Amino acid sequence: MATFWRPGMMPIQLLLTIGVTFLIFVIGHTFIKKTFGRGLPMLAQGALTWLAAFTIFKFVISPPIPSSLLYIYMGLITLVIGLFISANEVSWTESKKPIVDTLIGATPLHRGVRAVAFIALPLGFGWGTYTSIAPPKNFPEPPELRTVHPAPPQAIKVQDKQFTLQTSKNPFRVDVKGEYLDVGKEKEFFASNPFDPNAEGYVKYVKEGGEVFFRNCHFCHGDNLDGRGMFAFAFRPIPANLADPGTIAQLQETFVFWRISKGGMNAPREINPWDSAMPPWEEHLKIDDIWKVALFEYWHTEFFPRTWD
Ligand code: HEC
Repeated sequence: MATFWRPGMMPIQLLLTIGVTFLIFVIGHTFIKKTFGRGLPMLAQGALTWLAAFTIFKFVISPPIPSSLLYIYMGLITLVIGLFISANEVSWTESKKPIVDTLIGATPLHRGVRAVAFIALPLGFGWGTYTSIAPPKNFPEPPELRTVHPAPPQAIKVQDKQFTLQTSKNPFRVDVKGEYLDVGKEKEFFASNPFDPNAEGYVKYVKEGGEVFFRNCHFCHGDNLDGRGMFAFAFRPIPANLADPGTIAQLQETFVFWRISKGGMNAPREINPWDSAMPPWEEHLKIDDIWKVALFEYWHTEFFPRTWD
């Protein structure tokens, strides 16, 4: 039996369980009829059916069904039982009689039942509600500490373009000859003047990145990139202080590209328990603008991105 009732046999298992239960019902009912001269009242049949269904769905079926599904099933079953009981005048009158008798207190016994029910029902509902929403005893602190710089994924997809973080480079960190400005070229990078109207290469891109920054980011990250923008203190955590040696200075440029693209919303779970308000800029900026604003942030703070080695 045990091997037969294993998970993964849902439909067969369900049919069998229902079949067996139905058989027990029929045999039991015939037995009661034979012994007492009359069958169970409709209401009792309905209640038994309801209980049997609940037991099967809640405790027998495996793998267990989600509770939302259980509520749907039980709702449907309640409806069907109600329809069945009220299908004809005789059974309806018979079924509602005990309920009406209890409500109006027809006999001392009914009055007793009514008194108990009127006390027990509110208490029961109150207890059920309380236990379902009360925090568990010894409520634990969130176990994870906040990881400010979560581990980046191997590769990311930004606007349908695939980026391997280890090998990607900022396409705008290139000098006039198109050569990538690697470690060792810091001086050249910071000495540039983006206000020069004839600026070319990365100097021009720094300027364009600055435009992106002052159009989108300074409200939060501040004019000086110090995380003290005018909206900054409405957020928890407050926006990153990009001028602090602990933020972008510690990071590879592709990591920064990743964080700007995905924002707080699409960051990995470790960045919780507080959700950062950093918007996912891939939904608002072009890929080029994200690279350029990263370039600008490094230029303005005079940090050089960390390299992979
Ligand atoms: C609504 C406010 C808001 C705006 C607008 C905003 N940011 Fe942020 N930003 C944040 C918050 C909050 C964080 C997360 C701080 C933290 O995790 O401690 C953050 C984090 C960052 C980080 C990650 C720094 C790190 O150390 O990992 C970068 C990079 C960044 N923002 C760049 C930008 C850029 C570029 C823009 C504009 C295109 C921008 N932000 C616009 C609020 C904002």
